[in-house]
Amino acid sequence: SGMFRKLWQSGMIALARSRRVRNFAQHSRATSFLSGKYVSGETPAAGIKRAQELLAGNGIRSSLFYMGEYVDDWDLVTQNIDNKLDVAARLGQAGLDVHVSVDPTQIGHHLDPDVVAGHAERIAKAVQAAVGNKGGVNCLMFDMEDASLNDPTIAVHNRMQDMGLPVALTLQAYLRRTRQDLQAQIARGSRVRLVKGAFAAPPDIAFTKRADIKANSRALIGDMLSQQARENGFYPIIATHDTALQDFTIETARANGWAAGDYEFEMLLGVREDVAKALAAKGERVRLYVPFGRDWWPHAARRIGENPANAMLLMRSLFS
Ligand code: FDA
Repeated sequence: SGMFRKLWQSGMIALARSRRVRNFAQHSRATSFLSGKYVSGETPAAGIKRAQELLAGNGIRSSLFYMGEYVDDWDLVTQNIDNKLDVAARLGQAGLDVHVSVDPTQIGHHLDPDVVAGHAERIAKAVQAAVGNKGGVNCLMFDMEDASLNDPTIAVHNRMQDMGLPVALTLQAYLRRTRQDLQAQIARGSRVRLVKGAFAAPPDIAFTKRADIKANSRALIGDMLSQQARENGFYPIIATHDTALQDFTIETARANGWAAGDYEFEMLLGVREDVAKALAAKGERVRLYVPFGRDWWPHAARRIGENPANAMLLMRSLFS
């Protein structure tokens, strides 16, 4: 099953990238139920509405993500930035956390890496403006894409942070370099979201076995919830659906003097929401990554790829 899982995941990563499959999927009624599962809707208003429902119903917070990946022209970059600015303002008006996630490639990395910092700065300033005097957990969160984006993303994050802007960084447990990257961020007193990593990379730079990624996740969680990190004002965000890692997080936190709410769990909309609700009910701080927009296939395809049980579901929808 390990073999099948790997094939399935890499197959779906390839399909997530295929323009032809994307065009088909996003316009096909057969696959539209998949968008309903992992995506809140097409508009910013739909994303905000879902965020309000999650907060009112379950005390669960949100990070809004406008899906506009695979950007290859400047009009799309502008559209992506405008969307993030709009959402930050709306979140502020709605009295919700102003928490917005961004992929560097959405704001122009592939067209010209030098524009990313300026674009990120505009969005981070919009977040700061929308927050008012609330401070706290509000931020522009940098997602982490494939390994070619590691250095540029960290550099832009650090630059924004040095300007005093509210930013946070995603680091991936599948990469061998992450332990060191994390140490640097702990020293900076940053906010870091730890994920396993949704990309594939060769064994010289990445752990490729699930057990090794999991072991590295534990080591990284240990660092994030250490007493040293707490003293530095570091803010840990553990983003996983893996309940063993969540339990390990809580155990480590308590052992080192962190209370619930001094750190947070983040999960994806549509994935194991029962687990998210149970954590929130226990008093843990929980956030869901809430995607919205019309370009939903790449995101949904990766989520489908993470769960082999989705294989049958997808096949049935395509061939029924
Ligand atoms: P794992 O995949 O081991 O899953 C744990 C359990 O949850 C398993 O039982 C599994 O079956 C179940 N599960 C997982 N996915 C499921 C699904 N889609 N449907 C049903 N069950 C499922 N990656 C990245 O490279 N860069 C990034 O910026 C981000 N950002 C990000 C933000 C947030 C909030 C989250 C939660 C995740 C990301 N990711 C990410 C994705 C991340 O790297 C990883 O691919 C997924 O979270 C899956 O790994 P888990 O840690 O959840 O464990």
